[in-house]
Amino acid sequence: MTTIPDLLSAALARALPQLSQPPPADFPAQVQAAADTRFGDYQTNAAMLLAKTARTNPRALAEELTAKLAEDDELGEISLPPTVAGPGFVNFTVRPEFLAARVPELLADDRLGVPVAAPKHKVVIDFSSPNIAKPMHVGHLRSTLLGDCLGRVARFVGHEVISDNHLGDWGTQFGKVIRGWKLHRDPAALAADPLAELVRIYQLADAETKTNPAAADDCRAELAKLQAGDEENVGIWKECVRLSREELDRIYARLGITFDHTLGESFYNDRLASVTERLVAQGIARESEGAIVAFFDEPKLADRPSIIRKRDGAYNYTTTDVATFELRVHEWGADAMWCVVGAPQALHFEQLNALARRLGITVPITHIQFGSILGADGRIMRTREGESVALRDLLDEAEERAAAVIAERSPDLPPDERASVARIIGLGAVKYADLSQHRLTDYKFLWEKMLSFQGNTAPYLQNAYVRIRSIFRRSGEEAPAAPPALTLSAPEEIALARRLAQFAEAVPAVLDDFRPNLLANYLFELANAFHAFYEACPVLKAEGTARASRLLLCETTARVLKTGLGLLGIEAPERM
Ligand code: ARG
Repeated sequence: MTTIPDLLSAALARALPQLSQPPPADFPAQVQAAADTRFGDYQTNAAMLLAKTARTNPRALAEELTAKLAEDDELGEISLPPTVAGPGFVNFTVRPEFLAARVPELLADDRLGVPVAAPKHKVVIDFSSPNIAKPMHVGHLRSTLLGDCLGRVARFVGHEVISDNHLGDWGTQFGKVIRGWKLHRDPAALAADPLAELVRIYQLADAETKTNPAAADDCRAELAKLQAGDEENVGIWKECVRLSREELDRIYARLGITFDHTLGESFYNDRLASVTERLVAQGIARESEGAIVAFFDEPKLADRPSIIRKRDGAYNYTTTDVATFELRVHEWGADAMWCVVGAPQALHFEQLNALARRLGITVPITHIQFGSILGADGRIMRTREGESVALRDLLDEAEERAAAVIAERSPDLPPDERASVARIIGLGAVKYADLSQHRLTDYKFLWEKMLSFQGNTAPYLQNAYVRIRSIFRRSGEEAPAAPPALTLSAPEEIALARRLAQFAEAVPAVLDDFRPNLLANYLFELANAFHAFYEACPVLKAEGTARASRLLLCETTARVLKTGLGLLGIEAPERM
């Protein structure tokens, strides 16, 4: 299904060559959502752009364009006669009749009108990627949620998506973990809460290295043994990875997040020597003070060389990533790579792109950055003890708080439904609070705000869905017989229908600059439009075609809300 702005753009493209001074053939005919909806639903600044090069009056040009557009019969079916506003914008107002016909089409479409992306890509999304042997904490939340959402949206618009959790399962921390394991491990504690025990022994070993140089040497020796394949150390490492992954998998399962691959850094270990050889053979890296180092010509990177192999023979994070990107491009056939990783790694990704280019990888590696999560005090969120907040505890608290809200608001909810609703509301609130923010800005993690049933929150959107479901329960008709077109008369009905048609614009927009908040804002506006409609227009008390039309608006709204929330990784309960 072609979106409304695309239909309008096509009409614009037909009109432009008919102007007395037609623009060059490559002039972009673009119609966008209106910045100020008082003058119309969509607008184009084409006349203003043209007037600039032709040095004519933009308003006069806009008038001429409007006159040509008014002669276009196909456009006449979609839009009221276009008008000129401001310095030379041409505005379009979609005809209610057009919207009335479009809503049933949306409902009949699996994709709710969202066009299939062209060209389609094979995208690898690298997200979450925590370092293991440490519990996941609140700092992992944004990468995990953003990456999951972008994957869902990319799949929905038709891209082939391969998700890969690039676990940090191979690094210097294992020297300390292994020493701690050998000296301090408490088997009972390990059985009771494996990850807590791993953290405890790691911290003990880490503290020792700071006061005792011999302990530090010992950790390095354990690491070297692990890297050389020592049987005992490899066994300990494997056990730590297994225990950590069990805990991670529980968290991902709770969040409803899955990965196609979980190839940790260790997976690439036996490829690093060959990567290094090739980098040297191709003149990209060379020996420098006993290490192998890549130097860059790019002005920004000229004084930021990257160590490929350290003097002691150990390889770096960057070396592993070169092997990783080679695998994704050469073995998986990826033509896009999106890495959802914190802003502090910006230099790393620039270096990687530079290395990849020189190795002949033309696929860009897109570093999708994000801001921080702050506590109520405006500083990086921490526990009262000053530690980073474990994700497990945070999710527990979300569910507990949601359960309390539900118990108060909906005491009649059947007890067997309560726990599942609390889970849906609690986790939804956490996810939405994150995804509804511009990804680059920091945000404050405020429980009351995110769990509120008012404002731009998950519970508000879920509640709109629940209301609609209850209308259908009361009506006794599950699927209303769809009239071929609706009768839309009240302005609230028209406004709701217009919003519904805009789902087709909101979903693809998420991928333009990796901004799930655009979809969240759209859903919020949709829920507002629904509430305004519901206040103004009785549904079950209406009769005949008005009732059928309104039920269909409700049904379509429910579908769009549920699908849109689903793209954010958020469920919608039937009752709450
Ligand atoms: N494990 C890394 C960290 O916690 C993130 C890995 C991101 N992905 C990558 N291919 N480098 O910082």
